[in-house]
Amino acid sequence: MLLRSLKRVSYWGASTSSHQVEGKNHNQWSVWELANAKRLADTAKQRYGHLPIWEDIAKEASTPDNYVSGIAIDHYGRYEEDLDMLAKMNLNAYRFSVEWSRLEPKEGRWDEAQFEHYRQMLRAMKRRDIEPFLTLWHFTLPVWFAEKGGFLHRPNLRYFIRFAEKAIAELGEYINYVIIVNEPNVYAGLSYHDGQWPPQQKSLIATIKVFNNLVQAHKRGYQVIKAINKRFKVGSSLNVIDFYNNDSRVTSRLSVAPRTYFWNWRYFDSIESYSDFLGVNFYMTEEYRSWRPVSVGKKINDLGWIMEPERISDVLIATHNRYKLPIIITENGVADRDDQYRRWWLERTLTAMNFAVNSGVNLVGYTHWSLLDNFEWSHGFWPRFGLVEVDRETLARRLRPSAVWFSEQVKKIRG
Ligand code: BGC
Repeated sequence: MLLRSLKRVSYWGASTSSHQVEGKNHNQWSVWELANAKRLADTAKQRYGHLPIWEDIAKEASTPDNYVSGIAIDHYGRYEEDLDMLAKMNLNAYRFSVEWSRLEPKEGRWDEAQFEHYRQMLRAMKRRDIEPFLTLWHFTLPVWFAEKGGFLHRPNLRYFIRFAEKAIAELGEYINYVIIVNEPNVYAGLSYHDGQWPPQQKSLIATIKVFNNLVQAHKRGYQVIKAINKRFKVGSSLNVIDFYNNDSRVTSRLSVAPRTYFWNWRYFDSIESYSDFLGVNFYMTEEYRSWRPVSVGKKINDLGWIMEPERISDVLIATHNRYKLPIIITENGVADRDDQYRRWWLERTLTAMNFAVNSGVNLVGYTHWSLLDNFEWSHGFWPRFGLVEVDRETLARRLRPSAVWFSEQVKKIRG
């Protein structure tokens, strides 16, 4: 592949989040997992029975253990090995999150040993010339904070801001890029609107409150981090869906426009003047014909999500046109346990990114989701997003064929 414009993209990497990989976390998610694992296992067929992959996953998805993060993939203990994998793939960026519940396990009590753990991880990245993109909040909360109502209550923001300030004061010497909030739209939606994630509420008012509080978390976080040092480049990551229509019906446009605004732009509109870059997480598209989404004839991944990776160019160009800010693709990938689509997905994505850069998008970096197979929230372990395959029994790591291909491309691009 000849993708000259991609030479302008400085950072090539992969992404994880603390709870999904570290293991032995104690937070609002781990508590919820233990209370809900059996229910999730018993209802697996209802949720996944329609998927073409069902026969292959039935056993795993019907086992309560699948829904308990437990040791996860022990990234906490094996990060050196995992960073070696990154380096082996010619990657020079790692997006990861620090786990608030480890750093402040009790309200106002900092665990210095845990700060030291992340410092060691950051030093390990430095030794390998890997640029850290540090995420402060990726869906998990210390139990004490969740017990106060978490992000539902505006006054609770002070705890998050205190944490953000402390984390950057402690770890800042090793980093340039900070992502404050990950996917406020997904979190508010699944935790407070759809009732699927803890605390399983189904309230529009709560959803709006949480979303607005996460806007404030970003803005105030931005201010405190910049007050520590202006050199930090600070942003947040949003799940962006490409809603589109290929016909000219008014009703199709009426389906697309409000979704695009509320899901994609509302958050970015609110934080754009407090952002040095925008983090785009891209996984899916939704085409509308009149009021209905179109799915017939489209390829789907293991989770049933429609795969149209090439449409990332539309997302990047639209985001660029609206905000004129640097963009980092902080997540992009596919649930694909047999590794049958990942290379194809990456090929199309790289071509589309090249097109977007050619069209003027200031694309700073790309971090694939995910570096490793991991704990996929309420789905548990069965969906496999990793460039690196992880054996569930032995936790042994192995590069997937698509990852080998990707690393060759990155090598050519980086020169
Ligand atoms: C989240 C990740 C998740 C990925 C795949 C994103 O919504 O930020 O934590 O694993 O999508 O579902």
